[in-house]
Amino acid sequence: MYSKTISDLRAKFGKNLAILGHHYQADEIIRHTDLKGDSLELARQIEKLDAEYIVFCGVHFMAESAAIVRKDNQKVYIPDSSAGCVMANMAPAELVDTVLSKILNETGRKIIPLAYVNTPAAVKAVCGKHGGSVCTSANAEKMLKWALERGDGVLFLPDKNLALNTADKLGIPEEKRLILDIRNKGANFDTKETMDKQLLIWPGLCAIHQRFKLSQIEKLRQEHPGAKVIVHPECPPELVKAADGNGSTSYLIKYVTEAPLGSTIIVGTETNLVNRLAKRFHDKNIIPLSVSFCSNMAKITEQKLAELLKNIETAKFEDVSDDIRIPAKVALERMLKVCA
Ligand code: 13P
Ligand code: SF4
Repeated sequence: MYSKTISDLRAKFGKNLAILGHHYQADEIIRHTDLKGDSLELARQIEKLDAEYIVFCGVHFMAESAAIVRKDNQKVYIPDSSAGCVMANMAPAELVDTVLSKILNETGRKIIPLAYVNTPAAVKAVCGKHGGSVCTSANAEKMLKWALERGDGVLFLPDKNLALNTADKLGIPEEKRLILDIRNKGANFDTKETMDKQLLIWPGLCAIHQRFKLSQIEKLRQEHPGAKVIVHPECPPELVKAADGNGSTSYLIKYVTEAPLGSTIIVGTETNLVNRLAKRFHDKNIIPLSVSFCSNMAKITEQKLAELLKNIETAKFEDVSDDIRIPAKVALERMLKVCA
C-alpha cells in the first residue's frame, strides 16, 4: 500500500524529486531510491542534483550535510528527523569547541580538527573555523594525511576506532597517539599530555560496530576454512587487523561483488546491508559476523516516506542557520576538493 503511494508520488514529482538512501537502509526503502551510496558518495551527489525536493533516507547527520551543501532553490528532508546517529551524539559542538580551544590556548600548537562526517553540523562548523575538514570512512586516510600536513597535530573526532585504524594504515606510532579524557567537560586532561602527540583522539564509538568480537571472527574462520573476512573500519582495531579487508560500506559491497563465485565472505557491518548482499549474491556464501542492526537507520520506514512525500510541499525541511552552515560548508568543501 505505501509502496504504491510512493511510486505514484515519485511519478508525479518526476525530476523535481530525488530520493537518496544510505546502504544501511532496509530493502523496502532502498527500492524507492534514485541514488544509494556510502556517506562520501551521497555527499558528492548533492551538488550535482537539480531536484527541488531532496529526500534523504539515512540518519540525521547525512540529511544535515546535504542541507549544508544544497543549492538555494533546494530543500532537504528526512522522513524521521529523530533518526540520529549514536556516535554523532558523542561529540556535542560546545564540548568540542571547549576541548579544542583549551588545547590551542594552552599549548600554542597548530592542531587541525578533523571531523568524521558522523557529526552534527555545528561540529563541522568548528572544524571549518579552525582550518580543519571532514572525512568519511572512504577517505579517512587521505584526509588525515591532509590534516597532518597542515599543522603539527590533528584532533580526530568522534570515532576512536576509525582514528586508530587510520593511524595504523598511516604508520603513526602508538606513542604519538592520545585518547582524550573528555569527562567532566574536558577538565580531566592536562594539555601537557598532548604536547608530543601527533594524533589526539576523541573517545567516541559506534555501538553497532563495537559489538563485534575478535572471538566471532576466530570461530567463523574455524567453521569456514578459506573464508574471507571484511569489516567496516568503525570496528575495533583488533578486528580490523584480523580481517582480510576493511573499508566503507561501498568498499564492502565492491569486495563481495568482485569475489569469485562460490567464495565465502564473512561481513562485519550493519545487518541490513549484509542481508541484502546475501540475497543479491546467492552464488556466494555471505555470512554476517553477527547480527547488529542500527535502530536509528531503521526509523526510516515506507510509511514515513509515503507520509513525507504526500505532504512535502508543507513538510518541515532541514534548516541549518547561516552561522553554522557557512563554516560547516567550508569544512565539507575542503574534503570534497581534496577527494574530487
Ligand atoms: P559509510 O560512510 O561507510 O557508508 O558509513 C557510514 C556509517 O554510518 C557507518 O556506520
Ligand atoms: Fe551511526 Fe553506527 Fe548507525 Fe552508522 S551504524 S549511523 S555510525 S550508529
